[in-house]
Amino acid sequence: MPPITSIADLRALARRKVPRAFFDYADAGSYNEETLRANRDDLMKVKLRQRVLVDMSKRDLATTIVGKPVPLPLGLGPVALSGMMHRDGEILACRAAVKAGLPYTLSTMSICSIEDVAEAVGQPFWFQLYVMKDRGFVRSLIERAKAAKCSALVLTVDLQVLGQRHVDVKNGLSVPPVIRPHTLLEMIGKPFWSLSMLGSKRKTFGNLAGHVKGMEGVRSLAHWTATQFDQALSWKDVEWVKSVWGGPLIIKGILDVEDAKLAAKSGAAAIVVSNHGGRQLDGAPSSISVLPKIADALGSEVELLFDGGIRTGSDIVRALASGARACLIGRAYAYGLGAGGEAGVAKAIEILGKELDVTMALAGLESVRKIGRAALAD
Ligand code: GLV
Repeated sequence: MPPITSIADLRALARRKVPRAFFDYADAGSYNEETLRANRDDLMKVKLRQRVLVDMSKRDLATTIVGKPVPLPLGLGPVALSGMMHRDGEILACRAAVKAGLPYTLSTMSICSIEDVAEAVGQPFWFQLYVMKDRGFVRSLIERAKAAKCSALVLTVDLQVLGQRHVDVKNGLSVPPVIRPHTLLEMIGKPFWSLSMLGSKRKTFGNLAGHVKGMEGVRSLAHWTATQFDQALSWKDVEWVKSVWGGPLIIKGILDVEDAKLAAKSGAAAIVVSNHGGRQLDGAPSSISVLPKIADALGSEVELLFDGGIRTGSDIVRALASGARACLIGRAYAYGLGAGGEAGVAKAIEILGKELDVTMALAGLESVRKIGRAALAD
């Protein structure tokens, strides 16, 4: 097999190894996938200045994210159902991130629970929160994240209603997988995945099972979110979450200047400029197209994190030059997880780090902390 040299290679390998319903779940966007495509297309339209004969012998890729030093301007964002890309996927991805010195975000909708990951990895990670109608349960999730020593809470605010991903409906995505004739064929076609999953500790949502009524035998994610998630969520609830949590709060899913200003006013430590990887409002602008406007409106009031289509080191430079302090990746590491578990995630991080380093050298940029608009070609 030829060596893996890109995130695209990891995606191709993951596609071969992971049953279709779960690969598609990670890979797809909502409806026409216009926003999904715009994220990538618009990133590629951002051009970098090629600078030469600048002393590039000492490049510095380190920065801080929410006050914590990191060797790269990168974190692993929340990816629901990571534990279906690979057995114990959340534990493995968290381990790879911790070994690389980067933050890892555990999704509310993970297979391994907060406690599973805390126990297996023994290092702090971030916890991503969805606000459900049952505030007692939401409070208990926050308390569990505190008890597990999570170092930041990432509140996702752009998925109170699920944007439909057509493939999920067509694939009959359900957690745990329901064995129907076509899913059985899929599993037989992915023998390594199927065998390894037989030994996995959990087969459903680890944070919710046993805590939320009606969780067992989820027919569809859309049905579950429609019944459980609070569609009345508002800025008042953000205040409540912040007070219950009491630590650094990151608000994820901001795509509009007005909302960004409100998020800054709410006292968030950081916001993630994001359209949920093109999985929610189809027809929303790409994340990269709104990032400079949000950066201009907020100045240095709040840290700006970015996600939406990062597949290369040059994409990271594009986002930093457009105003981000650091980027979060989702699919880029989920592909790695599907392709090769912890080693696959480590590979995704290594690929992005090396590409970032070379891109900086070729663009005459010596420190990630100093990358700004001047790095962009007009
Ligand atoms: C959940 O976060 C999803 O994007 O499906």
